Formats: sequence, structure tokens, C-alpha cells
Amino acid sequence: MKKNVILYWAPGGNVEKAAKNIHDLLKDYDFEMIDLVSYDINQINNTQRFILGIATIGAEIWRDAKGDNYWNDFFVKTENMSFKDKQFAFFGLGDQVLYPDHFVDALGYLKEEVEKRNGTIVGRWPVEGYTFTDSEGAADGKFFGLALDEDQQDSLTPERIQKWVAQLKKEMQL
Ligand SMILES: Cc1cc2nc3c(=O)[nH]c(=O)nc-3n(C[C@H](O)[C@H](O)[C@H](O)COP(=O)(O)O)c2cc1C
Repeated sequence: MKKNVILYWAPGGNVEKAAKNIHDLLKDYDFEMIDLVSYDINQINNTQRFILGIATIGAEIWRDAKGDNYWNDFFVKTENMSFKDKQFAFFGLGDQVLYPDHFVDALGYLKEEVEKRNGTIVGRWPVEGYTFTDSEGAADGKFFGLALDEDQQDSLTPERIQKWVAQLKKEMQL
């Protein structure tokens, strides 16, 4: 069993594509890539490092317990767990032109839930190079994880991923 995991939702779109590209760069570092629904939460205790991937699809959905919001389901199931001594990094997909007031908001949701369980967050990423008016996914000039915009800036994605993974290797001491 691997010690580190890339967990993502939803499959079949930009989040999965980014997860694959991140995984390609981290394969040799004991990282497994699993979609959230296939993930057995009993594995959490055996896992040291987590990379969580999410898309923002309507800012309100992430706090709604209904529907097929599997991230919500994951955080309900792990509500009483401690993530102490575990490291977390996030990547979030969004669209800064169509949703400038809510760009990658879901990164803020992941941060909040992981902090509640006392996990350590690494992989913050500068807001320079993106154009948006507001985001729950950023504070003090940094996103809480890697922001990716496949709708408006897809040509920048490979370099962003490469730099971010290099940053993670240092911050996660891989
Ligand atoms: C209905 C809908 C709502 C969206 N809302 C937001 C939003 O509030 N903020 C944002 O940054 N992107 C938003 N997006 C853009 C998606 O996050 C983006 O297209 C992402 O790459 C989708 O990832 P996926 O292909 O894995 O689903 C929205 C997209 C859709 C279709």
C-alpha cells in the first residue's frame, strides 16, 4: 500500500486530467491516484500525504449536503477524524472569466475542512497571473492550493503543474 494519495472528484473532466498530470510527476514518490468514490476512507490512517483535487461548480453546491457532492460526503464521513501529522495540498479547477467573483472558491472549502481536522496544509500558490475579482480560495495574495483554469488559460497549465509539484517535493520533503 502506498503512503501517499491523490484524491480527486469528479472523474472524466479537467480535474481528472490535472490529477493524471500531477500523478505522472509523482509516481516515483509513492503516490497513488484514486477517484474519491473509489477511495476507502479506512485507508486514511495509513496515509501520510494527501493531494486533493476539486472543481468549483457553483459556489453554493459545496456546502450542500444533497446531490452527488462526494466531497461533502467525504467530509461528513471524516467529521470526527483527526488529520493531525498529515500533510495536505490542494488543486482546484475554475474559470476566472465566467466566474470572476467565485474563482476556485472550492479551494477555500477544502482548506476549511482540513483545518477543522488539524491537517497541515502545504502548496499555497501566488495569485499573480490570474485575473479575478474575488475568491474564497485565496487570502493574503495566495491561493490555498494550485489554481488551474483549463477554460481560459489551458496553455499555462503544464508549467503551473510542473512548478507546483517541484514546490510540493520540497514542502512535503519527498
Ligand atoms: C455549472 C457550472 C458552474 C461553475 N461555477 C464556477 C465557479 O463558481 N467558480 C469557478 O471558478 N469556476 C466555475 N465553473 C468552471 C469549472 O470549475 C471548470 O470548467 C472546471 O474546469 C470543470 O472541471 P471538470 O471538467 O473536472 O468538471 C463552473 C462550471 C460549471 C459548468
